[in-house]
Amino acid sequence: MDVKGPDTYDVVGIGFGPANLSLAIALEEHPEPFTSAFFEQRASLSWHRGMLLPSAKMQVSFLKDLATFRNPTSPYSFVAYLHASGRLARFVNNQDFYPTRKEFHDYLEWAEARLRPRVRYGSRVTALRTPAGARTPLDHALLTVCDTAPGGATRLVKARNVVIATGLVPRMPAGVEADASVWHSSEFLDRFRHHHRPLRRVAVAGAGQSAAEIVGFLHDALPDAEIYAIVPAYGYSIADNTPFANQVFDPTAIDDYFHGTRRSRDAFWHYHKNTNYSVVDSEVIKDLYRRAYDDELAGTERLRFLNLTRVAGVKSVQNDVRVTLHSTAREESYDVDLDVLVCATGYEPMDPAAVLGDLAPWCLRDAEGRLHVDRDFRLVTAPGLHCGIYLQGGTEHTHGLSSSLLSNLATRSGEITVSIANRLAGASAGGDKGVRP
Ligand code: FDA
Ligand code: NAP
Repeated sequence: MDVKGPDTYDVVGIGFGPANLSLAIALEEHPEPFTSAFFEQRASLSWHRGMLLPSAKMQVSFLKDLATFRNPTSPYSFVAYLHASGRLARFVNNQDFYPTRKEFHDYLEWAEARLRPRVRYGSRVTALRTPAGARTPLDHALLTVCDTAPGGATRLVKARNVVIATGLVPRMPAGVEADASVWHSSEFLDRFRHHHRPLRRVAVAGAGQSAAEIVGFLHDALPDAEIYAIVPAYGYSIADNTPFANQVFDPTAIDDYFHGTRRSRDAFWHYHKNTNYSVVDSEVIKDLYRRAYDDELAGTERLRFLNLTRVAGVKSVQNDVRVTLHSTAREESYDVDLDVLVCATGYEPMDPAAVLGDLAPWCLRDAEGRLHVDRDFRLVTAPGLHCGIYLQGGTEHTHGLSSSLLSNLATRSGEITVSIANRLAGASAGGDKGVRP
């Protein structure tokens, strides 16, 4: 990114994960030029690196990449990446829609390399602000951007449109905090690599994809350790990725959800939550069962599945962590001492309020306190705010199940780009085209 930049950017993105990477591509491929900048708090592109386990596979087809569903001829597609890497033929020979997460990460880095001039890494956006003494209508916002290096500077950046894509927020069990012996799955690999004390008894809480993958990883990596799987259900449940159910991730499902009734929206969650939450790929489930069976056969049982059990509390005891487990089968609690507890207990949705700052009071909310979001992913704001604030994530209540996922990144980025282009064109023509009161 040119350090000076324009006085006011057309588009500023907060966060540079796959969502805003996809947006940067859509902006680049749009016929009208935009001035844009993206601020990312990490030092480099990092797509859930803490969970980049050796054999973990994608949970979405490679065709649902950063660009293909918006522009099948994009030079930023996964197929273009394979071609450039000389692996296209061999990838096809694999006959598998689901690459490893490592390969997809490599693809993201390949695409990011060409857009890097627009990205400022090590830069955290702490809040949106209104310009001092500004009068309405407000056609731009200020972003407070902090350099994350020790003693780093803070500066203000002006934007006509802001796209918030700050990602999911790790969730710990109630009352439990992460520390040196209690890890959230999102930081698993970093913690595991830097943990220098022996690991003889480790537990993994949760029955989702993260938990199941980590149990398998620990079983391989710690051949002498006991691994406890703390499973709230009777056993792991399968992620439904069958064709009819998978339609909930189609671009058209967003329209059906957005324009749906209360009952039809509830139906999406009631019938199809098991496409994504608290569920595990069938291959991974079978692999874990097979491991436990083979251990039993060999007389080396060390995988212990504590079903119908939840983590109820944690405290430190010398070098150990004492975990209180609650069995819902017997409605009783008991303690186990462990070297490490891994909480693969999921995530909260993206929370735009964390960065809305001064602009929060301008953003309208529904009776349940949730942000009003228009079909074009733009926050509905009070009259007088013409600066566009768009969300990539945090829209489960308005746009449905794919909000936090990769499935619709390409089409969503395209729709946001078109919306911004139309509003900028309306503003420069002196009219109010596309600018809501
Ligand atoms: P993501 O979280 O990737 O990026 C957000 C970025 O914003 C981060 O880099 C963060 O540092 C930055 N940021 C946050 N606050 C900031 C601030 N204030 N200032 C500056 N930067 C800030 N989905 C799917 O469809 N298929 C899949 O295979 C998977 N696989 C998968 C694996 C694992 C382990 C997890 C946890 C999740 C998935 N997902 C998934 C879902 C996942 O949400 C999705 O893959 C993307 O990460 C979504 O991309 P985003 O860019 O929205 O968020
Ligand atoms: P998740 O699906 O939300 O699962 C969280 C699990 O933690 C649930 O089983 C939940 O049980 C359990 N839990 C919550 N509190 C608990 C407690 N106190 N004690 C014990 N268990 C508790 O989270 P996730 O597995 O991290 O998956 C999140 C997203 O990341 C999904 O979209 C998933 O597909 C994705 N992901 C993808 C990959 C991949 O691509 N390979 C890998 C990992 C994750 P309840 O439901 O009963 O509360």
